[in-house]
Amino acid sequence: MIPLPNNSEIFPDADSVARAAADRLVALCAESAAGDIAVCLSGGSTPKRLYALLAGPDYAGALPWSRLHWFLGDDRLVPPDDERSNLRSAREAFGTAPIPEGHLHPIPTGGTAQAGASAYADTLRRFYGADRLDPARPLFDLVLLGLGEDGHTASLFPGKPAADEDEAWVAPVPEAGLAPFVPRISLTFPALASSRRILVLVTGAGKREPLARLAAGEDLPARRITSVGDVGWLVDRAAAGLD
Ligand code: 6PG
Repeated sequence: MIPLPNNSEIFPDADSVARAAADRLVALCAESAAGDIAVCLSGGSTPKRLYALLAGPDYAGALPWSRLHWFLGDDRLVPPDDERSNLRSAREAFGTAPIPEGHLHPIPTGGTAQAGASAYADTLRRFYGADRLDPARPLFDLVLLGLGEDGHTASLFPGKPAADEDEAWVAPVPEAGLAPFVPRISLTFPALASSRRILVLVTGAGKREPLARLAAGEDLPARRITSVGDVGWLVDRAAAGLD
């Protein structure tokens, strides 16, 4: 078994990781006082199961959809109907979920990466109601993240400037470190850290290597995942090297 990050839990398979994340979101919503609940969605393939579960019969009735606002942690600089678009993936996975108009906040990808990053930062500031993040009042109630095979998270890649951004809330990523090799727009670590809880979903044998590199102390972007709240890693047996 690979040594795992602090506060990791191991689950039998990808479906049980998704169910655990769904259960935590339901619990978080139930504990949340009145008002909006902000969730930052991860891209990639891992969370698709989760989004479909949330929209499905086991969970849809347990979520306060009129309070929930869904943001994206990153997106690719492609049209919203492009198969590489994280927005498209989320929309497809959520399917008929009763997300009210205006409660899914896409990252603008129709212009340059810089323009999209600036515009999304404005969207986040408007929603938050202030220009500076207060640790006592996190921007997100929940941030969902994945782990790339190179140790990236969101679109914060090893050796790329956006991973070192410590002021802006959203950054352009002109060069992706992994496929799809299109420019990206990504929330930065300071914005992701403004969260009550972060859940990192890691499934499949392909993630053994980045987990092992993190355990060996490599300064990969995923090592910089922090939160003013708490960070939990939901890892399946395949990724943990147990199968
Ligand atoms: C993206 C994601 C990215 C993803 C990891 C893991 O835009 O691709 O935000 O950070 O979470 O690359 O991707 P998989 O879940 O597809 O393995």
